[in-house]
Amino acid sequence: PDAVPFAGAHQAGIVTPAQDRLHFATWDLTTTSRDDVVDLLRRWTVAADRMTRGLPAGELSPVGGPYDAPPDDTGEAQELTSANLTITFGFGPSLFTTSDGVDRFGLADRRPALLEDLPHFPGDVLEEMRTGGDLAVQACADDPQVAVHAIRNLARLAFGTAAVRWSQLGYGRTARTSQAQATPRNLFGFKDGTANVVAEDTSALDDHVWVAPGDDAAASWLAGGSYLVARRIRMTIETWDRSPLREQEQIVGRTKGSGAPLSGGDENTRPDFALAGRDDVPLIDPASHVALAHPSANGGARMLRRGYNYTDGSDGLGRLDAGLFFLAYVRDPATQYVPMQTRLSRDDLMSEYLRHTGSGLWAVPPGVTDRGALDAGAYV
Ligand code: HEM
Repeated sequence: PDAVPFAGAHQAGIVTPAQDRLHFATWDLTTTSRDDVVDLLRRWTVAADRMTRGLPAGELSPVGGPYDAPPDDTGEAQELTSANLTITFGFGPSLFTTSDGVDRFGLADRRPALLEDLPHFPGDVLEEMRTGGDLAVQACADDPQVAVHAIRNLARLAFGTAAVRWSQLGYGRTARTSQAQATPRNLFGFKDGTANVVAEDTSALDDHVWVAPGDDAAASWLAGGSYLVARRIRMTIETWDRSPLREQEQIVGRTKGSGAPLSGGDENTRPDFALAGRDDVPLIDPASHVALAHPSANGGARMLRRGYNYTDGSDGLGRLDAGLFFLAYVRDPATQYVPMQTRLSRDDLMSEYLRHTGSGLWAVPPGVTDRGALDAGAYV
């Protein structure tokens, strides 16, 4: 009952109802051999399929292999269920070509045109070792140990071929990706994910999330896939917590209680950006987050947000290193993400309380459709 099928037209972990926990990691390939890369992706496919079914990463149980060899699975998930584990793979721009144009693995002619390093946005304070990576894996589960076990075993399998570049833990989803899910809250204390693209909204998914067959002739392999944007966004919690409720609501454009737009109604009422109150001042500030992120301010662009809260201890100066690990899936990052982020970084009242410290863009291939091929060992 708590296993999400690994095979399918799209990879699991995108429209799958957002689980409670995240372990996200990126890897840099240390090999120069294309065969090694193919072999790694095959081994990862088999292990991911097994782990999402609640099985150990390898054929043998964590204690069932030869006594004088390292076990095939690290063992900490032995008595746990798969806890709705999903493992979603992405390919970074640097997998195809280096920043100075070197074709590393003979893949340059298949590089998706839109798979470009994200530009520098106003206010970015990105840390190099929280940014980019040849390969990215988003592991989500309802049990943190299951998500960490998945990333750890993929890292173990990659030893000698790829090395972890950086990784991020998340707890507390900050989006709902299904109508059946309640809207959770982010660390500003506001409901988050109200106006998200959700699984049931299949025509919005086709328009805004899935890459269509004709989108990119050179990268026809990406049809049915998507692009994943990740941003590690630190919140200056201590300053936020000393700002008045009125200002907090003005910044977001919604109430902190029900999540209703400041133009009135309940959580699911459409915001009315034209509605003015006293002295003709708009009830929703035009520089609020919701006003600037709304499709009406972005040429109709929407995205499927799937982020998590994070708290990585404190920063040595008595402040929490906490925020939102923003994850979003889009069909076209150049029109759906870059212009919106540019606008938000420049004009959003919220940006005063945010610092983007990590970033990346990956092309997320479609799913493995052939369950039979997986069972028959075609990927071994
Ligand atoms: C909406 C918070 C970063 C895009 C919202 C809402 C909140 C929120 C409270 C209203 C409820 C909802 O519809 O989900 C935050 C926080 C952020 C953050 C705390 C950073 C820490 C971003 C970023 C983007 C973004 C980086 C994209 C570049 C959106 C979009 C909506 C939204 C598209 C829906 C707007 C609508 O259709 O009404 N966000 N957000 N957010 N946010 Fe953010």
